Amino acid sequence: MIAEHIKELSPFAAQFAADVRAGLLRPAQKELPSKYLYDATGSMLFEAISVMPEYGLTRADERLLRRHAGDIVRLLPGPLAVSELGSGSGKKTRCILEALCGREAISYYPIEISATALASCERELADIDCVSILGVEREYLEGLREVAARRVPGAHLLVLFLGSTIGNFDAGADCRFLRGVRETLISGDSLLLGTDLVKPLDRLLPAYDDPTGVTAAFNLNILARINRELDADFNLRQFEHLARFNQRTSSVEMHLRSKKAQTVTIPRAEFMVRFVEGETIWTESSHKYSVSELSNLAEASGFRCAAQWIDEEWKFAESLLMAE
Ligand SMILES: C[S@@+](CC[C@H](N)C(=O)[O-])C[C@H]1O[C@@H](n2cnc3c(N)ncnc32)[C@H](O)[C@@H]1O
Repeated sequence: MIAEHIKELSPFAAQFAADVRAGLLRPAQKELPSKYLYDATGSMLFEAISVMPEYGLTRADERLLRRHAGDIVRLLPGPLAVSELGSGSGKKTRCILEALCGREAISYYPIEISATALASCERELADIDCVSILGVEREYLEGLREVAARRVPGAHLLVLFLGSTIGNFDAGADCRFLRGVRETLISGDSLLLGTDLVKPLDRLLPAYDDPTGVTAAFNLNILARINRELDADFNLRQFEHLARFNQRTSSVEMHLRSKKAQTVTIPRAEFMVRFVEGETIWTESSHKYSVSELSNLAEASGFRCAAQWIDEEWKFAESLLMAE
């Protein structure tokens, strides 16, 4: 019976099942990798989050890109191709692509795990005449290696990693990830990194717990996805969204809290899991950086910070890191 379930799964579903099993059977804190938040529904809910009044990150990121696109582009050697890690809808990327269009035709490679986000990015930016878009439906580094392999001799690569998505990595893993990016690049390539900065909790927490409940729906959707794709029987009404700040790691953590003692069956991952009342599943961390931490991160991952712009309205940094 168990082997039959495994045989029926696609490679992606088999990995999803294995990750869900490993995360929910952990003896201590149960967890699910945050990348699974982004199926079609999750990607659409994230777009809704990004326009919520409480979620200042996207607007700060966009303000910085709009104000400084010209400055950013002036610091980049040409000819250039642009790639973006986890592009989402790509709306903010328009400023950079349009600024580059003033000087050359651009190939743009958005890299996304979510087919829905990738399709919306391709639609969103299709009207920019001098840009040819080639979507890459892959995980970040696998996609970036494919993009780098297509490099035209003499051309440089600008990699965008916006929206403070780097903050979703655990402490230390962010640096290891950026080192992986750096190893894919050559001297003269660059990385534009958007990072959310530490700020008072009364501004920070509502960004992850809006009163309309959109973030709660985004978080709960990961359980709905497990139901849809792995035939599980999570009762979503028996779990609730929780956002809390972890002072030690300087991160907002999203959890799903079990409202009662319950058992859930996940047939396509071949296990059952028990929850005690109040127990949580940790689904995402969003680390909040300090400016000095960012310089150390850039240096430790093999980049030089060539320029940095900070939004004062919602403390957020855009750092242009050069591979040397
Ligand atoms: C926090 S959203 C940010 C979207 C966009 N960059 C922005 O700033 O609004 C993260 C995006 O990365 C994508 N993503 C998450 N994990 C990924 C992975 N391992 N590989 C590729 N894309 C991933 C998600 O589908 C999602 O669109």
